[in-house]
Amino acid sequence: MKILFLDQSGKVGGAELSLLDIARPYRDHCLVCLFAEGPFRTLLEQAQIPTCVLATPIAVQKDSSVVKGLSSIGHLMPLVIKVAQLSREFDLIYANTPKALVVGAIASALSQRPLVYHLHDIVSQEHFSAINQRLIISLANTFAVAVIANSQATKAAFQQAGGRSPTEVVYNGFDIAAYQQVRHDRSTLRQQLGLESRFIVGHFSRLSPWKGQHILIEALKHCSENVTALFVGDALFGEQKYVEQLHQQIEQEGLQHRVRFLGFRSDVPQLMAACDVVAHTSTAPEPFGRVIVETMLGGIPVIAAAAGGAIELVEPGKTGWLTPPGDPVKLATCINHCQKYPHHSQEIARNAQADAIQRFDLAATNEQIAQCLQQVSQTSRVTFSNVLRWFPACW
Ligand code: UDP
Ligand code: GLC
Repeated sequence: MKILFLDQSGKVGGAELSLLDIARPYRDHCLVCLFAEGPFRTLLEQAQIPTCVLATPIAVQKDSSVVKGLSSIGHLMPLVIKVAQLSREFDLIYANTPKALVVGAIASALSQRPLVYHLHDIVSQEHFSAINQRLIISLANTFAVAVIANSQATKAAFQQAGGRSPTEVVYNGFDIAAYQQVRHDRSTLRQQLGLESRFIVGHFSRLSPWKGQHILIEALKHCSENVTALFVGDALFGEQKYVEQLHQQIEQEGLQHRVRFLGFRSDVPQLMAACDVVAHTSTAPEPFGRVIVETMLGGIPVIAAAAGGAIELVEPGKTGWLTPPGDPVKLATCINHCQKYPHHSQEIARNAQADAIQRFDLAATNEQIAQCLQQVSQTSRVTFSNVLRWFPACW
């Protein structure tokens, strides 16, 4: 099957890393079309996946109004037409992000190719403006022959927002071996970081207010003096103000000696292995949470914020800990427990590793996706009359 993958970003986020793994088996007969230049293109090319970048001026922002939404569709037309032309060479269009859905939906009607939407987001007011929620739902309902949701939470939010397209949950899959061969690097890395005697709480995420780095900084105040927070990840989408706030917070609390920022890194499994525990602190429901599974696969204790997909990944007390989102005191209590009872936390981490190996093997999830795509490629195509019906139905 020949697939045209669409993704709006040139940055390396979780949705893009997921797409990298999904596209790999199709690399001899697919094209990944990005709407922006960036390091994601390099990653795809290194994996020998055919890639092209079609630049676009659009911005479907959280604060978009109806008028803005409609006018940006006008701006999109050259991109839509280009994608429609390209897609004639393919059996199916696979939209991996919301803006890719906007473009892919109309292109699919023009080229008569079925559209699949991989939903990596929780369509709710915490993540999208009302207008963008409506845009996503109405486009998916009208044009997508299938939706692949990255968790039950994502699927439930989609349906609650009015999503009616056939929706299947497929968790992200992982190359399990990549997380298991790194334990021996632990002490070297800790030495290189100058943190060999510290109790390291890792945090692996782009720097963004809803990812809640400030919660971990606040939690440090309730932890013992030798606990250090190690932040791995960068501000990918212009969150410079938040980064400044984090530095102010650290200075005000006098925590400079207990916090390290490493920026974006490509050696996440090795860095995780250097940590004593990894904290996930999203203050809004996490759609899936790749970092949680990666921590489990690495055999490192994980503490996650109890909302969205995280609840499906971690069984509290068995495979990790869940704390209320935005609660630094409860987070500190869990960190302190892990520090005080290392044997217990190691036992939990071992359970988590065994559980994650079973549930998140890339081969299995790719097989699930292949079956889903096989089925939908046989189903009926969207016609241009759907476009005409979509406009009044949407607004
Ligand atoms: N990641 C990375 N380098 C970093 C920080 C994060 O490669 O410096 C990866 C991380 O390992 C994970 C992904 O980025 O695979 C983030 O995905 P997640 O689902 O946790 O969150 P998202 O940012 O997609 O909402
Ligand atoms: C999105 C979500 C994240 C999820 C990733 C992969 O980036 O924010 O929670 O893990 O997609 O599905």
